[in-house]
Amino acid sequence: MKVNNKHFRTIYFDKGKVHMIEQNALPFEFSWFTSKSYKDTCMAIKTMIIRGAGAIGAAAGYAMAQAAHEAPSADYNQYLVTARHDIEATRPTAQNLFYATEKVFNEALKGRAQAIAEARRLADENAKEGKRIGEYGNTIVKNGMRIETHCNAGWLAFVDYGSALAPVYLAWDSGKAVFVYVDETRPRSQGGRLTAWELHNHGVPHAILPDNAGAALMSQGKIDMVIVGADRIAANGDVANKIGTLEKAIAAKYYNLPFYVAAPCSTIDPNTKTGRDIVIEKRDASEVMKQCGTDDKGNKHTIHVNHPASGCVNPAFDVTPATLITGIITDKGIIDASESALSNLLVSK
Ligand code: MRU
Repeated sequence: MKVNNKHFRTIYFDKGKVHMIEQNALPFEFSWFTSKSYKDTCMAIKTMIIRGAGAIGAAAGYAMAQAAHEAPSADYNQYLVTARHDIEATRPTAQNLFYATEKVFNEALKGRAQAIAEARRLADENAKEGKRIGEYGNTIVKNGMRIETHCNAGWLAFVDYGSALAPVYLAWDSGKAVFVYVDETRPRSQGGRLTAWELHNHGVPHAILPDNAGAALMSQGKIDMVIVGADRIAANGDVANKIGTLEKAIAAKYYNLPFYVAAPCSTIDPNTKTGRDIVIEKRDASEVMKQCGTDDKGNKHTIHVNHPASGCVNPAFDVTPATLITGIITDKGIIDASESALSNLLVSK
């Protein structure tokens, strides 16, 4: 992805350090966070300096590589086991975190250099998968389409390209007129802050929608298709994604609109049978009760936005049943959200 005409990856590894875009500072400031240890990288995942399924996966792989890099020779294996446990405890829902941690852990048991090479390979694979998702997804994007998306499943949520936004970028770059309705995605506003910033940088026409406006626009014939990302896809095709996705899927079904999920094969979890078995992360109430941003002069503020004495519930994800999903755009092609299609895809990997 280009920012001011310069190409960047969301995250990269160099001499034991992990460099990642500070996503909490966007869209007000484009800055980088450097993690010097696996524990630092765990903190960055927990606090959402880096977030989005694919980017979390890359960060987790690099964190495991950092652990191998740091581990004392006398205590090498035990250090890796503890680090793996710490990394896996950062965020529970994104499948890519567990996928990458396991792969790099297994290589780390062979040696430090193998761990680093594997983490780099996974990050490269992540960027290539995004591009392939974009190519397959572009085949279903028609000239003039108005596409709704939820949360941020773009370049920032991966190493490059993204998942749900990759078809949009490739369609736009191939000369198709597209317009994106960006759900704001409270409480952390990944849509209004991150997706909107990405689309603006890429020059794609878009508008931010309050979270409760999608169904109204669908009812008025203003939306042609919905594409969202995924944090985990269960073996039967149920999809966990950012809270609010389920409501869009229900509304799309009601208005007979195509509802696509875009994700790489690494987000499919064959060991989780259905969406009911997916662990849904519960996040802190402060995300709902307060908002941070800047005033017109660029000064940062955190303010209360709700009645401070009330309690709140803050589930980070919901599960969309496979029956509401038109298709899954993967890096290997577009498939049905069904157990047989998913298992065939994994076998063909
Ligand atoms: O809590 P986040 O910001 O890490 O949530 C992940 C997401 O960005 C979304 O759920 C997204 O749509 C899928 S991740 C590519």
